[in-house]
Amino acid sequence: MSIQHEDADRLLENLRKTYLDELRSTYSPAVIQHFSTPHNQEQMDNPDAGAQYTGPCGETMNISLKIKDDRIEKVTFLTDGCGTAVACGSMVTVLATGKNLKEACEIDQEKILEELGGLPEQERHCALLAATTLHKALEDYLPNSREDDTNK
Ligand code: FES
Repeated sequence: MSIQHEDADRLLENLRKTYLDELRSTYSPAVIQHFSTPHNQEQMDNPDAGAQYTGPCGETMNISLKIKDDRIEKVTFLTDGCGTAVACGSMVTVLATGKNLKEACEIDQEKILEELGGLPEQERHCALLAATTLHKALEDYLPNSREDDTNK
């Protein structure tokens, strides 16, 4: 016996509701929002600085920066990581946009976690991946790093 269209629609709706209920019981609204509609998740053309970093979990994030007068004009990220890595990448770009370099250096794992309303213990390292990649991108902009790069 085949499933009727109405039954299939009801089944899909129930699955969607169960999935959303499960997400909502585990993650904050901010995490779900940044995961489902991430900000600044794109490749940047001609960045002023950038870095790619692979965390201990084996997942990688890439962050690119446009900087003018020591202020971050634009930040983009890409990741092959989990959903929370996407949420953390999105949040770190929002936090860093418009900041001067010193302020951007102060964005750390705890700040990302705080702004996202927390993450389950086993996923807190996703915020560290985002913070570390941002810091490495900022290091890439520093004059000494740039000289090092030209010597490679
Ligand atoms: Fe590795 Fe999220 S970044 S599990």
